[in-house]
Amino acid sequence: MAKDKIVYFCKECGFESSKWMGQCPGCHAWNTFSEEKVTTSGKKNVTNRNIPKPTSLENVSATDEVRIKTDIKELDRVLGGGIVKGSLVLIGGDPGIGKSTLLLQMCKNLSEKGTKVLYISGEESPAQIKLRAERLAAFGNNMMLLCDGSMENIESNISKGHYEVIIIDSIQTMTVEDVSSSAGTVTQVREVTSRLMQLAKGLDIAVFIVGHVTKEGTVAGPRTLEHMVDSVIYFEGDANSGVRLLRGVKNRFGSTNEVGVFMMTGRGLEEVDNPSQLMLNGRPEGVSGSVVISTLEGTRPILLELQALVCETNFNMPRRTAVGVDYNRVNMLMAVLEKRAGINLAGFDAYVNIAGGMRINDPAADLGIIFAIVSGFRNRPIDDRTVIIGEVGLSGEIRGVTNVLQRVKEAAKMGFSTCIIPKSNYDKEMENLNINVIGVSMLSEALSHI
Ligand code: TYD
Ligand code: MG
Repeated sequence: MAKDKIVYFCKECGFESSKWMGQCPGCHAWNTFSEEKVTTSGKKNVTNRNIPKPTSLENVSATDEVRIKTDIKELDRVLGGGIVKGSLVLIGGDPGIGKSTLLLQMCKNLSEKGTKVLYISGEESPAQIKLRAERLAAFGNNMMLLCDGSMENIESNISKGHYEVIIIDSIQTMTVEDVSSSAGTVTQVREVTSRLMQLAKGLDIAVFIVGHVTKEGTVAGPRTLEHMVDSVIYFEGDANSGVRLLRGVKNRFGSTNEVGVFMMTGRGLEEVDNPSQLMLNGRPEGVSGSVVISTLEGTRPILLELQALVCETNFNMPRRTAVGVDYNRVNMLMAVLEKRAGINLAGFDAYVNIAGGMRINDPAADLGIIFAIVSGFRNRPIDDRTVIIGEVGLSGEIRGVTNVLQRVKEAAKMGFSTCIIPKSNYDKEMENLNINVIGVSMLSEALSHI
């Protein structure tokens, strides 16, 4: 006999409990438990089951993984060289960032090549999708559309259709009839994903799942979703600027060190081959407080413009603002400047900003932040053709960072004439590049180059 039971799930990590709790014992998050009804079926018949036998690894024949190219280079790169048949890919991102657009563009390329794709939407009507598709130019007739949220209907459609790629937009709108809780709850999301996994593995279909992201920045629904799928990709960027980054955080079939760069335009997403050029576009020349830094996105170095505005404060407490870089890091670097370089910033407001709306997390930007602040403070511009790379320690030492050779190569390629780098990162090979490389080991030494 089927029975209904009330259980409580943590929305963050999926921890299950028979009573409500304020704090989750699994992930220590507060106030994340929600009540859900779970149907437990009666006794299971164990005797008639087909029990699989283990085989020796040697006897397993490995077929080469078949990859379908999407012809969107940046997406292929993040997927590890194309879509793997039978894989389950989760694409997370803020609402309106462009997940549906990206997947629709992928469907267009695939359907033109003759790959059979099915786009399932629980959010938009066929007419709405058609409207968007028209902005992205013509589609081949291998592209099928289904607007439904019931997993039972979807399953019967898929089993009839011989599809190779399926898009589920989004997981939060899909429901399984056996589960009585509403769409988007932990039990539903988990059940739908596990059914999709069975479909993907059983029929060798690649499935893309769209997941909305919560305020905290994780895919809504439990973390367990991330464990169930083969790859997790996040689509991020500033909604106001057109730049979008596609970042792999988990990939069973490739590296997670890759980042795809896109630009949202009036006709969908466009790939960006040369992100440095895009980010440096429109940079003012000969202005104080502006420097060029290098950040590593995946394995690709990108050159960015960092700006600082330093002005006398009108308050007792000076104001500090950081956009695109870590606020606490800016405060720390300003303290290092006061103590180690004797520059008194107590009476000055400082605003630090990355032009172009990028957000970075790379310690190699430290020295650039310091240069921008000093340049803004002294109102003296820094040479336009210089790139600044290096982490700054609390004693004012310039510490080494990763992949400096690659960063210097990118600077040379983009036509810069000088690179200031940590001395410990100096490499003989840099002499062959058409760029002047200066190694510095202490802050005072570095500042003498302003
Ligand atoms: P969408 O793919 O619907 O986002 P998501 O599925 O992640 O919620 O993207 C919607 C945004 O993209 C919307 O604000 C409009 C913008 N957009 C363009 O700028 N150009 C286009 O060609 C398209 C299709 C969308
Ligand atoms: Mg959407």
